[in-house]
Amino acid sequence: MTAAETSPLDRLAPELAAGWRTATEYVEGILKAAILDGRLPGGTALRQEELAARFGVSRMPVREALRQLEAQALVDVLPHRGAVVTAISAVDAADGYAIRRALEPAVLRLSIPRLTAADLAEAAQLIAAMDEEADPARMGQLNRRFHMALYRAAGHARMLALVGQELAGFDRYLRFHLAAQGREHMAQQDHRAMLAAAGAGDVAAAVAVLERHLDQAAAAIAAFFTRRGAPRDA
Ligand code: NI
Repeated sequence: MTAAETSPLDRLAPELAAGWRTATEYVEGILKAAILDGRLPGGTALRQEELAARFGVSRMPVREALRQLEAQALVDVLPHRGAVVTAISAVDAADGYAIRRALEPAVLRLSIPRLTAADLAEAAQLIAAMDEEADPARMGQLNRRFHMALYRAAGHARMLALVGQELAGFDRYLRFHLAAQGREHMAQQDHRAMLAAAGAGDVAAAVAVLERHLDQAAAAIAAFFTRRGAPRDA
């Protein structure tokens, strides 16, 4: 925040003049753009009353806009604090990817020889569900379930639990990415190729697709942070 500003919300002034269809869309659209480009940094409190006054709308569209932003992982709703801008960082994203890159190929390798027809059918259903899904929060959950369906025959309960935990922790980056780039950026061709190779019992091919899938996702998130510039509050 510069000395002349009294609030990070001052940075939204240019968009306040634009035309929007509904009050919710107006509030959501402006906040989303400001969160994605870093003008509203991680940790910024978004108080309903203050936003309603600033946008000149009632609290109902503000509440609905915050709910929509929460579904896209752009906002966290915390007990006692209310809505705050989600804290994400390039360093944290790269850390999460490094862990996934180390663990997931290992569990996929262990899992493939033991996958059942039911596991493969479930993975196929989850790909189809992702094709139909527009909501980024549910998309993130389906992606996680798809990956875990291919990994879970690996045994190694603690290793699988770690993988599940890292996948869940990474979800906010996937949702950020989808919010910034659109749902067509979900790498469904990789999911299909991974499933086909797993079904054929081709461990090397499935692992190669997974490694590429993770590397491309890591590169996309890194590019997002580069475009956005250095975070204001690291
Ligand atoms: Ni995936």
